[in-house]
Amino acid sequence: MAANPLTKRTRVDTDDVQGLVLQGFGKHRAAAYLVLEVIDGAGARSWLSSLLPEITLGEARPSGVARNLALTSSGLAKLGLPPATLSGFSLEFLEGMTSAHRSRLLGDEGAAAPVRWEWGAPGGPEVDVLLLVFAPDTDALTAALERHRADLTGSGLREVATLDTEDIGRGEHFGFRDGLSQPTMSGVGRAGPQRHTVAPGEFLLGYLNEHGQYPRSPQVTGADDLDFGRNGSYLVLRTLVQDVAGFWRYVDRATRRPDGSPDPEARTALAARMVGRWPSGAPLTLSPEVDRSELAEQNDFGYDADDRDGMRCPVGAHVRRTNPRDSLPPKPGTEASTDVGKRHRLLRRGRPFGPPIAPDAALDEGSAQPADRGLHFLALCSDIARQFEFISHTWAMNPAFAGLLDDADPLLGGHSSRGTSFTVQGVPVRRRHQGVPAFVTPRGGAYFFLPGGRALRHLAGS
Ligand code: HEM
Repeated sequence: MAANPLTKRTRVDTDDVQGLVLQGFGKHRAAAYLVLEVIDGAGARSWLSSLLPEITLGEARPSGVARNLALTSSGLAKLGLPPATLSGFSLEFLEGMTSAHRSRLLGDEGAAAPVRWEWGAPGGPEVDVLLLVFAPDTDALTAALERHRADLTGSGLREVATLDTEDIGRGEHFGFRDGLSQPTMSGVGRAGPQRHTVAPGEFLLGYLNEHGQYPRSPQVTGADDLDFGRNGSYLVLRTLVQDVAGFWRYVDRATRRPDGSPDPEARTALAARMVGRWPSGAPLTLSPEVDRSELAEQNDFGYDADDRDGMRCPVGAHVRRTNPRDSLPPKPGTEASTDVGKRHRLLRRGRPFGPPIAPDAALDEGSAQPADRGLHFLALCSDIARQFEFISHTWAMNPAFAGLLDDADPLLGGHSSRGTSFTVQGVPVRRRHQGVPAFVTPRGGAYFFLPGGRALRHLAGS
């Protein structure tokens, strides 16, 4: 089904949308997220009221520090949002990321179980508010955080975790470019390739989505009549620890020559097949044998015409699972197939944390640092179940994805005791790598809502 033509004409009321939905604050290289618990609702409301002028709204690139603010369902309740309004949010948001059902769905079991998490764990301090601070440099960030911490004293909120980020350039810790493939929201200033242009209602409440429907949105009725959800977005945050040494050691062992010597080229090629892009970002579908950095930002490609069987980019690679593009039934290779995929897109705004380590250093047993490093994965969408959870469960973690037999996402899976398999399609025979262990383990997370400007003012009572 083609996207509803109405969605193409809608203009987004960008001045009322928090900046993070419209931009990644990429020039703001320093960032930290404060996870807060509300102790006293009235105090928290007045804290929010004084913070309001500093919240960054709209598309304009901020010159100074940028701030955005999101809340969990418990945070919204503590700030006084009435049950009738709260009930308009989605069930998964109201239940939260750590309900037993969601843990099963997201694979958060065993070592990944929420009881082991550093923040957001059931029974731990309640996660109510997330203050995201982006600064042009670390000095500006330090100064802003000091000010915010001073403001928190006696405010009715307390800090339960600080999520620091690390500027490691444009990549993630395994050594690959990240943040390359993003959907373009129609109805805002920018234009992008048609295959990545998605209706605003996929990311913002209050607009038509790719089904031609308005997402369910919480309402405030009575004297303050307000579509509380409008211009707001759900925000999924997960702290994912990456075992960089484990990743490079696995691909090193799997690609040794018959005489036992390492084969660096084959090692990088296997790692790239797991991701679906080379370290530079070049897509394997466009360059299957060598990394060609000039293709790094090339994103206007599909899989069906030239790579239906995964001979270039394996069918189970991370990027192919998390966005199968035009390979989805019922008619792979057509616009209708891409349109099905458009109902499962995410705006990714994650940032790495922890010190970087180069692949060679990770392979050197002596020098591998035990430090924690990983990704504060952050995604925005209008329907957590249909977008983030569907991608995680039905595509990434699904052992039978696209006709595979027992393979989960090679970056995100591997949590069972025997690991997962990873299949590299080939002629005359495919190659199956067995026992791929878990390289990524969740250590915290929650579902938040990032309200529009009007909704924030309503919450603050101003
Ligand atoms: C530590 C964990 C993760 C790492 C290291 C990682 C790494 C990457 C890399 C290197 C890319 C390719 C560059 C790009 O297109 O931006 C990518 C793409 C992507 N990842 Fe992840 N990722 C992680 C977790 C996740 C999770 C949890 C999800 C969602 C459930 C996800 C969804 C996506 C999507 C949707 C794409 C874009 C695919 C496309 O449109 O072609 N990633 N990731």
